[in-house]
Amino acid sequence: MSLRKTSATAPHLAVGIDTKKYILAMASIEEVIEHFRIVETFDDKYQQQNAFAHIVESCWNEFGPSQRYLKRLVLQYVNQLEREGEAAESDALSELVLHVSLRKDNVPESNESCYLSFQIPEKEGMDDSIDGWLRIRVFPYHNDVALRLWEAGAALAEYFLDHPFLLKNMHVIELGAGVGLTGLVIAACCNPSSVYLTDYTDVCRNNLRHNLEINRKWLARHGVSSDQIAEGYLEWESFAHPTGLTVNEMNDDPAMVSFQRAQVLIAADVLYDVSVIDSLVLVVKRFLTQQSNRQRKEVIFAITRRNMNTFNLFLDHLRGHGIHCTYLAKSCENLIKMFPCNFFQGREDVQVAQLRLTAFHDDDVR
Ligand SMILES: C[S@@+](CC[C@H](N)C(=O)[O-])C[C@H]1O[C@@H](n2cnc3c(N)ncnc32)[C@H](O)[C@@H]1O
Repeated sequence: MSLRKTSATAPHLAVGIDTKKYILAMASIEEVIEHFRIVETFDDKYQQQNAFAHIVESCWNEFGPSQRYLKRLVLQYVNQLEREGEAAESDALSELVLHVSLRKDNVPESNESCYLSFQIPEKEGMDDSIDGWLRIRVFPYHNDVALRLWEAGAALAEYFLDHPFLLKNMHVIELGAGVGLTGLVIAACCNPSSVYLTDYTDVCRNNLRHNLEINRKWLARHGVSSDQIAEGYLEWESFAHPTGLTVNEMNDDPAMVSFQRAQVLIAADVLYDVSVIDSLVLVVKRFLTQQSNRQRKEVIFAITRRNMNTFNLFLDHLRGHGIHCTYLAKSCENLIKMFPCNFFQGREDVQVAQLRLTAFHDDDVR
Protein backbone atom coordinates (compact mmCIF):
# COMPACT_ATOMS: atom_id res chain seq x y z
CA MET A 1 0.00 0.00 0.00
CA SER A 2 1.49 3.30 -0.98
CA LEU A 3 0.45 6.31 1.01
CA ARG A 4 0.13 9.75 -0.46
CA LYS A 5 -0.72 12.63 1.84
CA THR A 6 -2.62 15.50 0.35
CA SER A 7 -4.44 18.45 1.76
CA ALA A 8 -5.11 20.21 -1.51
CA THR A 9 -8.00 17.96 -2.50
CA ALA A 10 -9.51 17.66 0.97
CA PRO A 11 -8.61 20.75 2.96
CA HIS A 12 -10.89 19.87 5.88
CA LEU A 13 -8.99 16.65 6.54
CA ALA A 14 -5.97 17.07 8.76
CA VAL A 15 -2.78 16.24 6.90
CA GLY A 16 -0.85 13.33 8.39
CA ILE A 17 -3.74 11.53 9.98
CA ASP A 18 -4.36 8.23 8.24
CA THR A 19 -7.62 6.36 7.85
CA LYS A 20 -7.09 4.27 10.97
CA LYS A 21 -6.73 7.38 13.07
CA TYR A 22 -10.04 8.69 11.75
CA ILE A 23 -11.76 5.38 12.50
CA LEU A 24 -10.31 5.21 16.03
CA ALA A 25 -11.62 8.71 16.68
CA MET A 26 -15.05 7.65 15.34
CA ALA A 27 -15.02 10.40 12.75
CA SER A 28 -18.06 10.70 10.52
CA ILE A 29 -18.32 7.65 8.28
CA GLU A 30 -18.47 9.85 5.17
CA GLU A 31 -15.26 11.53 6.26
CA VAL A 32 -13.47 8.22 6.89
CA ILE A 33 -14.40 6.85 3.48
CA GLU A 34 -13.58 10.12 1.74
CA HIS A 35 -10.23 10.19 3.50
CA PHE A 36 -9.46 6.57 2.60
CA ARG A 37 -10.31 7.08 -1.05
CA ILE A 38 -8.50 10.38 -1.43
CA VAL A 39 -5.42 9.88 0.66
CA GLU A 40 -4.56 6.23 0.21
CA THR A 41 -3.57 5.10 -3.28
CA PHE A 42 -3.46 1.51 -4.55
CA ASP A 43 -2.42 -0.41 -7.62
CA ASP A 44 -5.88 -1.90 -8.16
CA LYS A 45 -9.39 -2.17 -6.70
CA TYR A 46 -8.69 -5.58 -5.17
CA GLN A 47 -5.77 -4.20 -3.21
CA GLN A 48 -7.80 -1.18 -2.13
CA GLN A 49 -10.65 -3.34 -0.82
CA ASN A 50 -8.23 -5.63 1.00
CA ALA A 51 -6.54 -2.68 2.62
CA PHE A 52 -9.88 -1.22 3.74
CA ALA A 53 -10.89 -4.56 5.28
CA HIS A 54 -7.55 -4.90 7.10
CA ILE A 55 -7.68 -1.36 8.46
CA VAL A 56 -11.21 -1.94 9.82
CA GLU A 57 -10.21 -5.31 11.30
CA SER A 58 -7.25 -3.74 13.04
CA CYS A 59 -9.62 -1.30 14.78
CA TRP A 60 -11.93 -4.10 15.93
CA ASN A 61 -10.57 -4.61 19.42
CA GLU A 62 -11.25 -3.96 23.07
CA PHE A 63 -10.25 -0.31 22.82
CA GLY A 64 -11.81 0.29 19.43
CA PRO A 65 -14.89 2.22 18.35
CA SER A 66 -18.36 0.73 18.74
CA GLN A 67 -19.07 -2.37 16.69
CA ARG A 68 -22.24 -0.73 15.45
CA TYR A 69 -20.11 2.09 14.04
CA LEU A 70 -17.68 -0.36 12.38
CA LYS A 71 -20.57 -2.27 10.86
CA ARG A 72 -22.08 0.92 9.40
CA LEU A 73 -18.66 1.89 8.07
CA VAL A 74 -18.20 -1.42 6.23
CA LEU A 75 -21.73 -1.44 4.80
CA GLN A 76 -21.51 2.18 3.68
CA TYR A 77 -18.16 1.54 1.98
CA VAL A 78 -19.64 -1.42 0.10
CA ASN A 79 -22.77 0.60 -0.82
CA GLN A 80 -20.55 3.27 -2.26
CA LEU A 81 -18.63 0.67 -4.30
CA GLU A 82 -21.93 -0.68 -5.62
CA ARG A 83 -23.22 2.76 -6.54
CA GLU A 84 -20.07 3.14 -8.61
CA GLY A 85 -20.70 -0.18 -10.39
CA GLU A 86 -18.17 -2.19 -8.36
CA ALA A 87 -18.65 -5.10 -5.97
CA ALA A 88 -16.90 -6.45 -2.88
CA GLU A 89 -14.38 -8.58 -4.75
CA SER A 90 -11.54 -9.03 -2.31
CA ASP A 91 -11.71 -12.07 0.01
CA ALA A 92 -10.95 -9.97 3.07
CA LEU A 93 -13.74 -7.49 2.33
CA SER A 94 -16.25 -10.22 1.45
CA GLU A 95 -15.53 -11.99 4.75
CA LEU A 96 -15.89 -8.75 6.66
CA VAL A 97 -19.21 -7.97 4.98
CA LEU A 98 -20.49 -11.44 5.88
CA HIS A 99 -19.30 -11.01 9.45
CA VAL A 100 -20.98 -7.64 9.98
CA SER A 101 -24.17 -8.69 8.20
CA LEU A 102 -24.66 -11.52 10.68
CA ARG A 103 -24.58 -9.10 13.61
CA LYS A 104 -27.99 -8.42 15.12
CA ASP A 105 -27.59 -4.91 16.50
CA ASN A 106 -30.17 -2.81 14.77
CA VAL A 107 -31.26 -1.17 18.01
CA PRO A 108 -28.63 0.97 19.76
CA GLU A 109 -27.76 -0.31 23.23
CA SER A 110 -27.60 2.60 25.67
CA ASN A 111 -25.19 0.85 28.04
CA GLU A 112 -22.72 -0.08 25.31
CA SER A 113 -19.41 1.65 25.80
CA CYS A 114 -16.49 1.94 23.43
CA TYR A 115 -13.34 3.99 23.10
CA LEU A 116 -12.20 7.00 21.15
CA SER A 117 -8.43 6.87 20.64
CA PHE A 118 -6.14 9.72 19.69
CA GLN A 119 -2.48 10.08 18.95
CA ILE A 120 -1.31 13.37 20.37
CA PRO A 121 2.06 14.72 19.20
CA GLU A 122 4.55 13.29 21.61
CA LYS A 123 7.74 14.53 23.08
CA GLU A 124 10.88 13.53 21.25
CA GLY A 125 12.08 9.97 21.74
CA MET A 126 8.66 8.47 22.49
CA ASP A 127 7.78 5.40 20.42
CA ASP A 128 4.76 5.19 18.14
CA SER A 129 3.20 2.11 19.75
CA ILE A 130 -0.48 1.78 20.63
CA ASP A 131 0.45 2.54 24.27
CA GLY A 132 1.10 6.03 23.00
CA TRP A 133 -2.63 6.55 22.38
CA LEU A 134 -4.96 8.52 24.59
CA ARG A 135 -8.12 6.47 25.12
CA ILE A 136 -11.44 7.89 26.15
CA ARG A 137 -14.33 5.62 27.09
CA VAL A 138 -17.66 6.96 25.85
CA PHE A 139 -21.23 5.65 25.72
CA PRO A 140 -22.21 6.84 22.25
CA TYR A 141 -25.84 5.69 22.46
CA HIS A 142 -26.57 6.89 26.00
CA ASN A 143 -28.64 10.02 26.53
CA ASP A 144 -26.50 11.31 29.44
CA VAL A 145 -24.54 14.29 28.12
CA ALA A 146 -21.67 13.51 30.50
CA LEU A 147 -20.92 10.19 28.80
CA ARG A 148 -19.85 11.47 25.43
CA LEU A 149 -17.34 13.96 24.11
CA TRP A 150 -18.62 17.33 22.92
CA GLU A 151 -17.31 19.71 20.24
CA ALA A 152 -16.31 22.32 22.81
CA GLY A 153 -14.35 19.80 24.91
CA ALA A 154 -12.34 18.79 21.84
CA ALA A 155 -11.94 22.39 20.66
CA LEU A 156 -10.79 23.61 24.09
CA ALA A 157 -8.15 20.86 24.16
CA GLU A 158 -7.04 21.92 20.67
CA TYR A 159 -6.96 25.56 21.79
CA PHE A 160 -4.71 24.75 24.75
CA LEU A 161 -2.47 22.54 22.59
CA ASP A 162 -2.00 25.68 20.53
CA HIS A 163 -1.55 27.93 23.62
CA PRO A 164 0.10 25.70 26.25
CA PHE A 165 1.79 28.67 27.93
CA LEU A 166 -1.61 29.74 29.35
CA LEU A 167 -1.52 26.73 31.66
CA LYS A 168 2.19 26.21 32.23
CA ASN A 169 2.97 25.75 35.96
CA MET A 170 -0.65 26.55 36.83
CA HIS A 171 -3.05 24.66 39.07
CA VAL A 172 -6.10 24.07 36.90
CA ILE A 173 -9.65 23.09 37.82
CA GLU A 174 -12.29 22.02 35.29
CA LEU A 175 -16.06 22.27 35.71
CA GLY A 176 -18.34 19.75 33.97
CA ALA A 177 -15.41 17.65 32.80
CA GLY A 178 -17.62 14.89 31.31
CA VAL A 179 -15.47 12.10 29.85
CA GLY A 180 -12.27 13.95 30.76
CA LEU A 181 -10.61 14.47 27.37
CA THR A 182 -9.81 18.17 27.85
CA GLY A 183 -8.29 17.67 31.28
CA LEU A 184 -6.22 14.66 30.23
CA VAL A 185 -4.85 16.46 27.18
CA ILE A 186 -3.86 19.58 29.06
CA ALA A 187 -2.30 17.55 31.88
CA ALA A 188 -0.11 15.71 29.37
CA CYS A 189 0.71 18.51 26.97
CA CYS A 190 0.55 21.92 28.67
CA ASN A 191 2.81 21.38 31.72
CA PRO A 192 0.33 22.52 34.38
CA SER A 193 1.26 21.97 38.04
CA SER A 194 -1.97 20.02 38.56
CA VAL A 195 -5.34 19.37 36.97
CA TYR A 196 -8.51 18.68 38.95
CA LEU A 197 -11.50 17.44 36.95
CA THR A 198 -14.95 17.91 38.43
CA ASP A 199 -18.44 16.72 37.63
CA TYR A 200 -21.37 15.56 39.69
CA THR A 201 -23.23 12.37 38.78
CA ASP A 202 -21.96 8.98 39.95
CA VAL A 203 -22.18 7.51 36.48
CA CYS A 204 -20.11 10.35 35.03
CA ARG A 205 -17.51 10.27 37.79
CA ASN A 206 -17.13 6.48 37.52
CA ASN A 207 -16.40 6.87 33.84
CA LEU A 208 -14.09 9.81 34.50
CA ARG A 209 -12.14 7.72 37.03
CA HIS A 210 -11.96 4.88 34.49
CA ASN A 211 -10.55 7.24 31.86
CA LEU A 212 -7.95 8.54 34.30
CA GLU A 213 -6.94 4.99 35.26
CA ILE A 214 -6.58 3.58 31.76
CA ASN A 215 -4.48 6.57 30.74
CA ARG A 216 -2.06 6.45 33.70
CA LYS A 217 0.69 4.94 31.53
CA TRP A 218 0.03 7.46 28.79
CA LEU A 219 0.19 10.28 31.34
CA ALA A 220 3.41 8.87 32.80
CA ARG A 221 4.95 8.86 29.31
CA HIS A 222 4.25 12.60 29.30
CA GLY A 223 5.84 13.04 32.71
CA VAL A 224 2.54 13.42 34.60
CA SER A 225 2.48 11.69 37.99
CA SER A 226 -0.68 10.29 39.59
CA ASP A 227 -0.90 13.08 42.14
CA GLN A 228 -0.94 15.75 39.43
CA ILE A 229 -4.35 14.81 38.04
CA ALA A 230 -7.48 13.80 39.95
CA GLU A 231 -11.24 14.03 39.76
CA GLY A 232 -13.84 15.05 42.30
CA TYR A 233 -17.42 16.08 43.00
CA LEU A 234 -18.41 19.66 42.31
CA GLU A 235 -22.06 20.44 41.64
CA TRP A 236 -22.66 24.05 40.61
CA GLU A 237 -25.89 24.80 42.48
CA SER A 238 -24.72 23.44 45.83
CA PHE A 239 -21.26 24.96 45.36
CA ALA A 240 -22.76 28.35 44.51
CA HIS A 241 -24.99 28.30 47.59
CA PRO A 242 -22.90 26.63 50.30
CA THR A 243 -24.80 25.79 53.47
CA GLY A 244 -22.54 27.08 56.21
CA LEU A 245 -19.57 24.72 56.06
CA THR A 246 -17.04 25.17 58.84
CA VAL A 247 -13.45 25.99 57.91
CA ASN A 248 -12.43 22.45 58.88
CA GLU A 249 -15.13 20.94 56.70
CA MET A 250 -14.05 23.13 53.80
CA ASN A 251 -10.44 22.08 54.29
CA ASP A 252 -11.53 18.42 54.19
CA ASP A 253 -13.33 18.81 50.87
CA PRO A 254 -10.86 18.02 48.05
CA ALA A 255 -12.91 19.96 45.50
CA MET A 256 -12.91 23.04 47.72
CA VAL A 257 -9.17 22.77 48.34
CA SER A 258 -8.50 22.41 44.60
CA PHE A 259 -10.90 25.26 43.83
CA GLN A 260 -9.09 27.59 46.21
CA ARG A 261 -5.66 26.54 45.01
CA ALA A 262 -6.45 26.71 41.29
CA GLN A 263 -5.22 29.67 39.26
CA VAL A 264 -7.12 28.73 36.12
CA LEU A 265 -10.70 27.51 35.92
CA ILE A 266 -11.80 25.96 32.63
CA ALA A 267 -15.07 24.56 31.29
CA ALA A 268 -16.34 23.33 27.93
CA ASP A 269 -19.93 23.17 26.77
CA VAL A 270 -21.55 23.90 30.10
CA LEU A 271 -24.13 26.43 28.86
CA TYR A 272 -27.26 24.59 27.89
CA ASP A 273 -29.45 24.26 30.97
CA VAL A 274 -30.95 27.67 31.74
CA SER A 275 -31.95 26.57 35.23
CA VAL A 276 -28.32 26.32 36.40
CA ILE A 277 -26.79 29.26 34.54
CA ASP A 278 -27.02 31.60 37.52
CA SER A 279 -25.36 29.01 39.79
CA LEU A 280 -22.62 28.46 37.22
CA VAL A 281 -21.96 32.21 37.03
CA LEU A 282 -21.88 32.36 40.84
CA VAL A 283 -19.23 29.61 40.87
CA VAL A 284 -17.19 31.66 38.38
CA LYS A 285 -17.64 34.78 40.52
CA ARG A 286 -16.62 32.89 43.65
CA PHE A 287 -13.49 31.74 41.85
CA LEU A 288 -12.59 35.20 40.51
CA THR A 289 -13.18 36.98 43.79
CA GLN A 290 -10.70 34.85 45.69
CA GLN A 291 -7.78 36.75 44.15
CA SER A 292 -4.90 36.23 46.50
CA ASN A 293 -1.21 37.10 46.69
CA ARG A 294 -1.71 39.56 43.85
CA GLN A 295 -2.06 36.54 41.59
CA ARG A 296 -4.77 36.72 38.98
CA LYS A 297 -7.32 33.95 38.62
CA GLU A 298 -8.19 33.13 35.02
CA VAL A 299 -11.43 31.65 33.75
CA ILE A 300 -11.53 30.20 30.23
CA PHE A 301 -14.70 28.70 28.77
CA ALA A 302 -15.27 26.98 25.42
CA ILE A 303 -18.81 27.77 24.32
CA THR A 304 -20.72 26.06 21.53
CA ARG A 305 -23.12 28.50 19.89
CA ARG A 306 -26.46 26.73 19.80
CA ASN A 307 -29.29 28.63 21.36
CA MET A 308 -28.73 32.41 21.34
CA ASN A 309 -31.35 32.94 24.07
CA THR A 310 -29.38 30.70 26.44
CA PHE A 311 -26.14 32.40 25.51
CA ASN A 312 -27.63 35.89 26.00
CA LEU A 313 -29.01 34.82 29.36
CA PHE A 314 -25.50 33.75 30.35
CA LEU A 315 -24.12 37.15 29.26
CA ASP A 316 -26.88 38.92 31.25
CA HIS A 317 -26.01 36.94 34.37
CA LEU A 318 -22.31 37.65 33.88
CA ARG A 319 -23.03 41.39 33.55
CA GLY A 320 -25.30 41.25 36.59
CA HIS A 321 -22.44 39.81 38.63
CA GLY A 322 -19.85 42.25 37.30
CA ILE A 323 -18.09 39.77 35.02
CA HIS A 324 -16.83 40.71 31.59
CA CYS A 325 -16.61 38.23 28.70
CA THR A 326 -13.98 38.64 25.97
CA TYR A 327 -13.11 36.22 23.21
CA LEU A 328 -9.72 34.58 22.99
CA ALA A 329 -11.00 32.85 19.84
CA LYS A 330 -14.22 33.87 18.08
CA SER A 331 -14.14 30.57 16.26
CA CYS A 332 -12.03 27.42 16.65
CA GLU A 333 -12.09 26.44 12.99
CA ASN A 334 -8.45 27.30 12.31
CA LEU A 335 -7.03 25.18 15.11
CA ILE A 336 -5.29 21.95 14.14
CA LYS A 337 -7.98 19.28 14.33
CA MET A 338 -6.49 16.74 16.71
CA PHE A 339 -9.84 15.18 17.62
CA PRO A 340 -11.69 14.48 14.37
CA CYS A 341 -14.76 12.91 15.97
CA ASN A 342 -18.24 12.93 14.52
CA PHE A 343 -19.65 16.08 16.09
CA PHE A 344 -22.99 17.70 15.37
CA GLN A 345 -21.47 21.15 15.05
CA GLY A 346 -18.25 22.29 13.50
CA ARG A 347 -15.32 23.95 15.23
CA GLU A 348 -16.47 27.26 13.70
CA ASP A 349 -19.42 27.16 16.14
CA VAL A 350 -17.15 26.99 19.17
CA GLN A 351 -15.76 30.11 20.82
CA VAL A 352 -13.15 30.40 23.52
CA ALA A 353 -13.98 33.10 26.03
CA GLN A 354 -12.16 34.63 28.95
CA LEU A 355 -14.24 35.76 31.93
CA ARG A 356 -12.94 38.52 34.17
CA LEU A 357 -14.26 40.80 36.86
CA THR A 358 -15.28 44.07 35.20
CA ALA A 359 -13.73 46.11 38.01
CA PHE A 360 -10.46 44.27 37.73
CA HIS A 361 -7.68 46.43 36.34
CA ASP A 362 -4.57 45.07 34.71
CA ASP A 363 -2.41 47.35 36.86
CA ASP A 364 -3.63 45.63 39.99
CA VAL A 365 -1.79 42.40 39.41
CA ARG A 366 1.56 40.99 38.35
C1 LIG B 1 -22.32 18.89 27.47
S1 LIG B 1 -21.39 18.13 28.73
C2 LIG B 1 -19.76 18.69 28.39
C3 LIG B 1 -18.74 17.71 28.89
C4 LIG B 1 -17.30 18.06 28.51
N1 LIG B 1 -16.89 19.31 29.10
C5 LIG B 1 -17.13 18.11 27.00
O1 LIG B 1 -17.05 19.23 26.45
O2 LIG B 1 -17.08 17.04 26.37
C6 LIG B 1 -21.81 19.11 30.18
C7 LIG B 1 -21.17 18.61 31.47
O3 LIG B 1 -21.59 19.46 32.54
C8 LIG B 1 -21.94 18.65 33.65
N2 LIG B 1 -22.94 19.35 34.47
C9 LIG B 1 -24.20 19.71 34.10
N3 LIG B 1 -24.85 20.29 35.12
C10 LIG B 1 -23.99 20.29 36.18
C11 LIG B 1 -24.07 20.75 37.52
N4 LIG B 1 -25.20 21.31 37.99
N5 LIG B 1 -22.98 20.62 38.30
C12 LIG B 1 -21.84 20.05 37.81
N6 LIG B 1 -21.71 19.58 36.56
C13 LIG B 1 -22.77 19.70 35.75
C14 LIG B 1 -22.50 17.39 33.04
O4 LIG B 1 -22.50 16.32 33.95
C15 LIG B 1 -21.59 17.20 31.84
O5 LIG B 1 -20.46 16.45 32.15
